[in-house]
Amino acid sequence: MRKKILEILQKNKHNYISGTIIAQQLNISKMAVSKHITKLKNDGYQIISKPRIGYQLQANKDIYDISKLKNDLNPLQSKIIYFDTLNSTNTYLKTNEDLPDKTIVISDEQTMGKGRLKRNFYSPKNQGLYFSLLLKPNLEINKILKLTSLVAVAVNQAIVNLYQLDTKIKWVNDIYYQNLKLAGILIEANLELNTSNIESLIIGIGINVHQQKFPNELNNIATAIENHTSIYHSRQALLTSILNNIFKLLADLDNPQHMEIYRENSCVLNKKVIAFYNQKKYHGTVEKIDDQGFIHLKTATETIVLSSGEISLDLNESYNNK
Ligand code: BTN
Repeated sequence: MRKKILEILQKNKHNYISGTIIAQQLNISKMAVSKHITKLKNDGYQIISKPRIGYQLQANKDIYDISKLKNDLNPLQSKIIYFDTLNSTNTYLKTNEDLPDKTIVISDEQTMGKGRLKRNFYSPKNQGLYFSLLLKPNLEINKILKLTSLVAVAVNQAIVNLYQLDTKIKWVNDIYYQNLKLAGILIEANLELNTSNIESLIIGIGINVHQQKFPNELNNIATAIENHTSIYHSRQALLTSILNNIFKLLADLDNPQHMEIYRENSCVLNKKVIAFYNQKKYHGTVEKIDDQGFIHLKTATETIVLSSGEISLDLNESYNNK
């Protein structure tokens, strides 16, 4: 039955077809149509459902084509490893750090996707883009925050350019659309103890692309790109754009223009925020994000400079911050 529904959708590609018509053609109930459509979506078919209008097949399964990806990243010779399912692409690289510089690990699904602060990253099959990039940059440790900021710029630029969405960067490197999180970045570094140089760096990026639903605990916290645009791209197109942006920025790490772009795309600069740092909570206004990526937070009594920690927009304007 699912195959027949798919055929009807394919015949009507680019148009909406109502659940009632599909039900009549196949002599089943509208409810049965809706259940089959849900299964097709879970299978990776990109189907839009519009209440009272019907269904439209936007694209067949969104699958990765690794040899095309290799070509599109040319002349860069990256090793690319693809999994249908994996616990976490970051964990994979952590346990295989002898892999070459610029190795890319992609998984269609993660069963134990990791976020910062030991949080989980929801990574359902066929829905989001989950990948990690291994770098062996020989970089001083004090450059890591800047590099982290630039990765956020690379991800944000790809989303803005491909989907024409006005997404923003929340310090340090989350991507938000209208106060909801669209993407997260987890960077894990392995230090060379003698020199304090970074021996290897794992840049893990997770982007919610096709998800139409999230678990209850993520409602009002997370969102996905396709809930805010009708522009469709494969996850691979997004991945290619992000990787090419990252490689371009890395080749030119000290260019001050990059941090200028970071500031222009920040959703916390000049805003009232709540910061958590060293188990303390601070209310203040972000006065500045400097060229190293540090945040200068003006509280009621002092200006503190943060290189790490968590901040969130303070939606309660009632306190008086002079
Ligand atoms: C965060 O939101 O705190 C960061 C989320 C990072 C998620 C990505 S998905 C690919 C890579 N593998 C992981 O386990 N985590 C990162």
